[in-house]
Amino acid sequence: MSKLSADAVSVFYEGPAGRVQALDAVSLDIASGEVVVALGASGCGKSTLLGLLAGFLAPCRGRVLKDGVPVAGPGADRGVVFQDDALMPWLDAIDNVALGLRFRGVPEAERHDRAREVLSWVGLSGFEKHRIQAMSGGMRQRVGLARALAADPAFLLLDEPLGALDALTREKMQSLVLDIRQKTGKGIFLITHSIEEALFLATELIVLSPRPGRVESRQRLPFAQRYAAGEPVRSIKADPDFVAMREAVLAQLFRHEEDKHAAAV
Ligand SMILES: Nc1ncnc2c1ncn2[C@@H]1O[C@H](COP(=O)(O)OP(=O)(O)O)[C@@H](O)[C@H]1O
Ligand SMILES: [Mg+2]
Repeated sequence: MSKLSADAVSVFYEGPAGRVQALDAVSLDIASGEVVVALGASGCGKSTLLGLLAGFLAPCRGRVLKDGVPVAGPGADRGVVFQDDALMPWLDAIDNVALGLRFRGVPEAERHDRAREVLSWVGLSGFEKHRIQAMSGGMRQRVGLARALAADPAFLLLDEPLGALDALTREKMQSLVLDIRQKTGKGIFLITHSIEEALFLATELIVLSPRPGRVESRQRLPFAQRYAAGEPVRSIKADPDFVAMREAVLAQLFRHEEDKHAAAV
C-alpha cells in the first residue's frame, strides 16, 4: 500500500496581467487501488494539481507527500499520461514503451519483455512492431498508458488522457482504465471535464471550483466498484442513480458559470 497526498497546496503564477492564483489550499489522498478524479472547468487548476503530484512543479504553500515523505521532483514511482500522447512517432510501439527503461540502463531483452507484457495489458499484443505514425488516436493512448506502466509505478497520473478520442473509443478506454486498476492495484489520479467519465471512473470524485481552484465537493462513488464486480458499462451509466448524479454535478458546474456572469454584470 502506498499513498500520494497533496496537503493544503496553493500555487501562484506570475502572468503578464499580474499574479494568478491557480490553486488554493487543495488537499487530497490517492491510495493504492483508488481512482481519484478531479473534475472542473477549463482553467480551474487541474493540470497544475497533476503537475504538483508528478513533481514537475513545487507548491508555493503546502506539501506534496508520498508515504509521508516530501516529493522533491518527478520519479519512476509516478507514471504520467497526457491528452497529447507525446510518443516518439519514428519509433514502433515496443520501443516507445521501453524508452524509459532504456534510459535507466535496463538490457534490451528485459525491457522488451516488460514492454510486451504491458502492451498486452492495454490490448495491443500483436502491435509491438507497429509505427506510432500508423496508429489511431485510441491506440496511441494505449501505447502511452503502456509506457507509463512499464516502470511499474505505484501511481498513474492521467491528465485528460481520453479527451481527444471519439465517443466509442473513449468508452472502451474508460473500461481499460478500470481494468488496469483492477489488475495492478495502482493508485490512479485522473483529470477530466467529462462528468460521465468522472462518475464512472472515480472511487472518489473531487469537484474543483475555478479562480482560484478550490475543492468544492468530494464524495465516494460506487460505480467503478460495480464495474469491477462485473456489471456492464451501459447498465451502470443508464442506472437512475448514475443519471441523477450526473444531473446534480452538471447543475453544480453550471452554478459557477452563473456566478461568473453575475460577477461580470
Ligand atoms: N505557466 C503558467 N503561467 C501563468 N499562468 C498559468 C500557467 N499555467 C497555468 N496558468 C493559469 O493557471 C490557471 C490554472 O491552469 P491549469 O492548471 O492549466 O488549469 P486546467 O488544467 O484546469 O485547465 C489558469 O488560469 C491558467 O491560465
Ligand atoms: Mg489542463
